[in-house]
Amino acid sequence: MSRIHHQGPLIIGGGLAGLSAALEAAPAPVLVVSPTPLLEAASSAWAQGGVAAALSQSDAPALHLKDTEAAGAGLVDHHAAEVLTDDGRATVEWLAALGAPFDREADGGFSVSREAAHSMARVARVGGDGAGRAILSALAIAARAAEHITVWEDGRLTGLLQDATGRVVGAVIERAGDRVEVLATAVVLATGGAGGLFGQTTTPRALLGEGLALAWLAGAEILDPEFVQFHPTAIDVGLDPMPLATEALRGDGARLIDRNGEFILGPEADADLAPRDVVARAVHQARAEGRGAFLDARTAIGDHFPQAFPAVFASCIAAGLDPRVQPIPVAPAAHYHMGGIAADPEGRTSLKGVFAVGECAATGVHGANRLASNSLLEAAAFGRRTGRMAAAERAGGTPVGATPAMPHLSAEPLLELRAAMSAEAGVVRNAEGLTRLLARIDGLEAAHGPALPLVVARLIAEAALARRESRGGHYRSDYPETFTTARHTRLVKPEVESSLPRAAGWA
Ligand code: SIN
Repeated sequence: MSRIHHQGPLIIGGGLAGLSAALEAAPAPVLVVSPTPLLEAASSAWAQGGVAAALSQSDAPALHLKDTEAAGAGLVDHHAAEVLTDDGRATVEWLAALGAPFDREADGGFSVSREAAHSMARVARVGGDGAGRAILSALAIAARAAEHITVWEDGRLTGLLQDATGRVVGAVIERAGDRVEVLATAVVLATGGAGGLFGQTTTPRALLGEGLALAWLAGAEILDPEFVQFHPTAIDVGLDPMPLATEALRGDGARLIDRNGEFILGPEADADLAPRDVVARAVHQARAEGRGAFLDARTAIGDHFPQAFPAVFASCIAAGLDPRVQPIPVAPAAHYHMGGIAADPEGRTSLKGVFAVGECAATGVHGANRLASNSLLEAAAFGRRTGRMAAAERAGGTPVGATPAMPHLSAEPLLELRAAMSAEAGVVRNAEGLTRLLARIDGLEAAHGPALPLVVARLIAEAALARRESRGGHYRSDYPETFTTARHTRLVKPEVESSLPRAAGWA
């Protein structure tokens, strides 16, 4: 074990949120720690849609805010969502100035496309479906060139260091077989989501919610962990993770059909652009009834497919499928975690010394169901805010302890956990299945120890069991109604240990 003293913020995560924070923290010296080379394991690099922002003449931040709140099913934090949507244009312009090559109109303006539950075209794209990779590449170049930023591309977060008051004063990083204690003025968690906990996911498999688990163990408040978004059109060709067929395909007219060619959501032109949770449940239902589910882009996109959606086209061709002439088989898959470490738009959490931003954070902007392409906006806009705020933080005290070292979960039990999470905490949940899932998590913990993925899986399952209603991404077949009053799940460790699953206070 070695120890270093870093005189600035330590940022864990090299995706869009982490790099935006790092760039904006200047001139404070920043250490960014990523478990892999930049671009390799960040879900932002995989984003196909783009950045949602009020960019067209007919749009306004207030309209974007209205759509964000409508999609979020009663749980969107108005203030946070207002800050986000107000930041939209400036954020896209900042990314463009850093070199993100957004698609443009002939007059130089941003070209925008439509995605589900947006009342108008509002998503700034890059090369059709290549936004995530192109934007993150531009930021990675800027971060590598910035004098105030040092990047470790081989470090894994394994613990948080705390002083006698409980303030977080650094982190334990595993690097090249060594454990390094990095003391820093602030720790920014930008560790991404938890899609890898599910057998069917569109996100990198390595994303297991470990940053969230460590924040929880150190005492941070966790908000709404039960809300997981399932994308309705993951390409179902037996790959893990599942390649995504972006919602923009439906925005451009592709339709969801069953194997008999019947429209799954009905014949109306806009039917397939309902909120993502509604579409995911319809696709799930069609598959459960044995009708299958397919995205048919033959008429709407046809021969333009390779130019219009090169990433999706490449995934289809690699799987032996030509989407110009064949409908694409699709299934819902875990895509985004709305729940996470409770944080404000500046990344502040309930735990002193810790900031959280991006998918590991729950700022309230997504509520129970994230509006498409709001996540890249949030990662960059709140990333910038968080970087500035973290840079102003002064160092805490001397470390007196660390979160307990947790065992690693090996491949076989992880596969078992992932299958159980998709089966029991997927698109449709009920008490019987969630209870079975919790028993499975108990069993895995007894056999393999309290590994961090099990900690997060338990938070999701217990909160899902406790929420006896259906709302947004959380659908209970045994409680299909939605309560009139929307309530958050707020969990803090000591309380939860003694009282979950009743901690959320559901009657
Ligand atoms: C998509 O392109 O369908 C995904 C966009 C998003 O998750 O926001």
